[in-house]
Amino acid sequence: MSMAGVPTLGIDFGTSNSAVACVDAGGAARLLPLEGAATTLPTAVFFNAEDRTVHYGREAMALYLEGVDGRLMRSLKSLLGSALLRERTAVGWTDVSYQEIVGRFLGELVRRARTHVGEVAPRLLLGRPVHFVDDDPARDAQAQASLREAAEAAGFADVAFEFEPIAAAFDHERRLDREQVVLVVDVGGGTSDFTVVRLGPQRIALPDRRPDVLATTGVHVAGTDFDRRLNLGQVMPLLGLGHAGPDGRPVPSPLYMELATWHMINFLYTPRRLAEARALRTNFADPALHRRLLAVLDLKLGHRLAAEVEQAKIDCSVGGGAATIDLGEVETGLAATLDAADMAVQLDALLGQVAACARDCVRAAGLQAPDAVYLTGGSSALAPLQARLRSEFPGVPLVEGDLFGGVAAGLAWAAARG
Ligand SMILES: Nc1ncnc2c1ncn2[C@@H]1O[C@H](COP(=O)(O)OP(=O)(O)OP(=O)(O)O)[C@@H](O)[C@H]1O
Ligand SMILES: [Mg+2]
Repeated sequence: MSMAGVPTLGIDFGTSNSAVACVDAGGAARLLPLEGAATTLPTAVFFNAEDRTVHYGREAMALYLEGVDGRLMRSLKSLLGSALLRERTAVGWTDVSYQEIVGRFLGELVRRARTHVGEVAPRLLLGRPVHFVDDDPARDAQAQASLREAAEAAGFADVAFEFEPIAAAFDHERRLDREQVVLVVDVGGGTSDFTVVRLGPQRIALPDRRPDVLATTGVHVAGTDFDRRLNLGQVMPLLGLGHAGPDGRPVPSPLYMELATWHMINFLYTPRRLAEARALRTNFADPALHRRLLAVLDLKLGHRLAAEVEQAKIDCSVGGGAATIDLGEVETGLAATLDAADMAVQLDALLGQVAACARDCVRAAGLQAPDAVYLTGGSSALAPLQARLRSEFPGVPLVEGDLFGGVAAGLAWAAARG
């Protein structure tokens, strides 16, 4: 609580899911319900072209999946730091920039949060990944500036930022009964972020925690990249990726890359890009594959395929068996499959990048190994990722935390500290 008695919100604006928390009058961090009882709001916006309404979260996904005419936006955070953020996109009855859409989404998060807590402080603490953009400090700074601008558009005069894994660490700390040096692993939808921090019940009240943060690292590889790789490996070949044309040359691949990338899908639905896709026909020896590709573009099924792949990834990780990716809407009877062996092969290089970044963080902290590895973020549940971390840090306990709420709760604690 701030002095005036109004709470300061902490917002975790995630690539896939967002959450809002604040410290309540009783002194506990509280995740606020954002969609019914759920304390996450999927970072999804749907512009319903049939009745010109705008929808958010699970409702946005459901309307799109029901086939309502309109535009779905996902993975908006991945556009931060890119020139595409300023691009205007047609949504059926008007056009809006992605920057405006991020502002609207943050505004909606706050509106929903306020139905539970009423007035909030003009100060806001936002999480941010260690790198919005890898190896490009100028674009990284631009990404944070754009997020700040969106938060200002949502009504906050004073916007501060904290690294997402550090926030997650301070939430985890509340449940520790002794001091430990912990590697926090936050693998979400867009980024994998790490910090090595000294945590403990006696340290919570220390006025300055900076000396406890021994290292932070991050890489722009996470769940949406896993989805893209699996999509390119298992589904896109059925639409012609890697297929040889009449001259023996493969069908050009950039369109498939975009179609398999959550935040790029909408850019394929412009009249110009659709005409380009139609003109690819002569590149296909098998016209049936080109027809499938056009069906996906004409029916705007891109997000649906990505969602099917994502679900198969989760089912396969949780169940360990094989999952079917139903492509019946593209062509009757068409389906792809994914099993644990496919997943291990397809994700090997990406998981290697994530594990290397974790290793770098421990090394930067000057340690051989941490006392424990704390896992948060949806993708930290991925079975082959956990296997990779176990072999990277043999003998170190892996502690599974709150997959989706840890960052926001930690932001609330940090916001209340001032
Ligand atoms: N059980 C699971 N196994 C593997 N992956 C999962 C599981 N559940 C969710 N995911 C993946 O977790 C990701 C979303 O995680 P999360 O909500 O933590 O990300 P985020 O905070 O929105 O993203 P970021 O922090 O990178 O901006 C998605 O890619 C989703 O597919
Ligand atoms: Mg996250």
